[in-house]
This record gives sequence, structure tokens and C-alpha cells, in this order.
Amino acid sequence: MAKTKTAFFCQNCGTQFPKWIGQCTSCKEWNTIVEEVVQKEDKKSWKTDKVAKQANKPLRVSEITQEQELRLDTKDQEFNRVLGGGLVPGSLTLLGGEPGIGKSTLLLQIALKLPYKILYVSGEESQRQIKMRADRIQPKSENCYILTETKTQNIFQQISTIEPDLVVIDSIQTLHSDYIESAAGSISQIRESTAELIKFAKESHTPVILVGHITKDGTIAGPKILEHMVDTVLQFEGDRNYVYRILRSLKNRFGSTAELGIYEMLGSGLREVNNPSEVLISKNDEDLSGTAIAATVEGMRPLLIEIQALVSTAVYGTPQRSATGFNAKRLNMLLAVLEKRAGFKLAAKDVFLNITGGISVDDPATDLAVMAAILSSNADLPIEKGTCFAAEVGLSGEIRPVQRVGQRILEAEKLGFSTIFVSKSNKISLKQTGIQVQKVSKIEDVVGHLFG
Ligand code: TYD
Ligand code: MG
Repeated sequence: MAKTKTAFFCQNCGTQFPKWIGQCTSCKEWNTIVEEVVQKEDKKSWKTDKVAKQANKPLRVSEITQEQELRLDTKDQEFNRVLGGGLVPGSLTLLGGEPGIGKSTLLLQIALKLPYKILYVSGEESQRQIKMRADRIQPKSENCYILTETKTQNIFQQISTIEPDLVVIDSIQTLHSDYIESAAGSISQIRESTAELIKFAKESHTPVILVGHITKDGTIAGPKILEHMVDTVLQFEGDRNYVYRILRSLKNRFGSTAELGIYEMLGSGLREVNNPSEVLISKNDEDLSGTAIAATVEGMRPLLIEIQALVSTAVYGTPQRSATGFNAKRLNMLLAVLEKRAGFKLAAKDVFLNITGGISVDDPATDLAVMAAILSSNADLPIEKGTCFAAEVGLSGEIRPVQRVGQRILEAEKLGFSTIFVSKSNKISLKQTGIQVQKVSKIEDVVGHLFG
């Protein structure tokens, strides 16, 4: 009788150990080592009758013929943009995100829109559940096949009968392969199932999209090696209480990771938001104190966002500071700068900061808008309509230049803003603009301009 082979894996980082230990020597987590049965039979290819054992020969770089990378158009502009122009044949894309954020909705929607033959494999929902979702999303498709299955060998069998042009797996954590005996979702199962899918994708030139669960701290569940194995890692994020969702690329072997896709979750699926600045700025006719508009750049896209601040007298001894969508440490730093350099006594005040739309930004160019919003709320004076900001603030209260300022100015102009505050040291190559570019070098200058 063949001896059962087992190994010990850290469930946190995926490191393999020959015996059990209390603390993982690699990621230093306690009690994460679990024994898993690793039983390797002699493996067959994903297609049993086609065991291609072609040995590759080394070639000179000049000898490698570069065919034009044909990409599969996903009919979804935002998705295409994040991928760098569409799905590359034979590529593996991993889509991660919190539960309920809309991963299944996004992929089903793409699957229904495409004119190609698609196999949507779900290990999480029944065919009827998926049908219900498809009815909400609307587009009727004759090319989209739904399969509820978790065993990779069965999936490959269906693939060879249907011969799809795109395979979607929802999710990788539910798959299990016969070659490994441990439970679905364990480190060795995820690794094995992914390896089998990669083999299939590369041999058949079919793109595969995987859905991946994420853990409490926001990383994709399973071994880190999963992210190394796939070609592209996308993350779908947003605040579930709001309708906006952002699709980011964390790794992309075929394009830039700076691209960003924005969607709005509606009752009938996800809507592509092609002009995000318009929806993120509230259309308020009244002049309200405490709001300022920042001209940010997220990834490659200029984005105008609204920042709201509320400054009020502290009720308790320690003033409260709270920030939603903005780094709390950075807020404290900006408050300290205001206190020290501009003489504002904010130590006895509570400060609340909020970025509307439930999105979060980490562009340093939002600094000046954050300060302006705080100052405006503190003085209870609204900032003049049509004003926006794009500059970083340094520790000594100096207004620092930001990158791609031209792009920000153009976006602000396009949206009808009349004034934009930028740093004096920003080199601006734009010739003629219909927007007034106000150059400032110190925080005091800004105060003078706004409330002077
Ligand atoms: P889902 O795609 O199931 O999320 P995930 O696969 O990431 O876990 O999305 C579920 C949420 O989306 C659910 O709370 C309902 C909402 N939703 C809509 O608002 N509109 C829709 O058309 C659909 C299909 C879902
Ligand atoms: Mg889902």
C-alpha cells in the first residue's frame, strides 16, 4: 500500500515544514501550522489525451518572433483599461475583494456581455442563484455557460466538451483537485488547483479569471505564492455602504498598474463610470463652510473629489480627530502644521474629516484641500465656488509641488472650475488655460486669498 504523504503548511504564508512547530519561522505567526495530506499520483495533463511533452529550445532574443499580442476585448471599458487593453490569451487574472463587494456581479456581467463562448464556474452559488443575478443584470446571452462544480478534473472535462474562449472561476478557494487530499481552501489545494489552471491556460491559450477571497487584513487568502503564479492581480474595493467601487491592478505582467476603473453599483448591476469627477462632487447650490475640492490623480486618471471637514469645540479633555477615506496620521500632521505655522488654535477642537463618495485617497496633493476645508469650517466661512486645490503641504507650512499638475488643471477646467491653487514651484507648461492658476508658496498666502 502506498504510504500517505503529509506535510505541514503555514495557513498564513504558505511555507512548508517537515514537522509541526508552534510558530511559523517565516511569518512569525503562532498556531498557523496545519498538517495536510499531499498525495501526488503521477499527474496527467489537464487534457488526458494530450500530454504535450515539447522540450523548449533556447533562442536568441533576436530570433524570438513577436506576434502582436492579440487581446480579448471585454466590452467593458473600465475593465479593459485596468487590464491594459483587454485580456491576454493564456493569461491568469486574479480578482480579489471583500465579500459582497461585487466580484461575482462584475464577472457575470462581463461574461453576459461578451460575444464569445464563456464558461462561468461557480463553487459558491447554485445555477438558480446565478440565474437570478443574471436576470437583474439584464443582457441576455446565448454564449454564457454556468457550471456549478468544485473538482478541477470535472471542470477540465467540461472545458474539453464546451471549448470556451474564456473561463471564469468563482472562487479559487472552493476548488479541489483529486491529486491532493487536503480540504478545499487549504494552502496545498489552492496551489495545486492554480497550477493546473495555469497549465490549461498556457497550453490552450484561453484566458482564465479567478476570484479570490481576501482575509481580514485585506490580503488575498491563501499562499502569497498565488499572487506570484498568476499574471495579473486585480483588487475590487469600495465602501459597501456607498455605491462606488474601484478596480485597481496590483500586479500586471501586460500593462501598467497605475490604471484604475470606477463603477457604480446599481440595482441592475455595475455601471461603468467614465467621468468620475462629476459624480463625486455634490451639486450643492448653497455655499457651505467646511468643504473644499481637491484635484487628485488616482492611478493615471485625474479625479476631482470633495473633502468635508467639521471643526467644533472639544467636549472632552482630549480632542477627537477622525478621518474617513484619508490617512488619520496625515490629518494629525496637517493639524500640527496649522497650529504651529498659521497660528490656529486647534488643540481644543474636535476635527472630523470625510471624503465624500466613500472612496479613499492617498494622493499627497489632497493636503491643501484638506487644510482649506478645515480652515473654512473653523472660520465658518465658505470657500468661494469654483475653487479647487492641488498641492502638498510640508512640515514647515510650505506648499509643495505635485506631479502631473497640468493634467489636474485641465480636468478642473473641463469641469468648469474658475480657480485652482497650486504650488509656486510647480513648473506648468500649459500655455493658455481658461482657469485662473493661483500660485502660492506658504499656507499663510492661501489663508489670505481665501478669507482675506
Ligand atoms: P456579489 O457580486 O455577490 O459580491 P461578491 O461576489 O464580491 O461577494 O455582490 C453582492 C452585492 O451586490 C449584494 O450586496 C447585492 C449587490 N447587488 C446590487 O446592488 N445590484 C445588482 O444588480 C446585483 C447583482 C448585486
Ligand atoms: Mg461572489
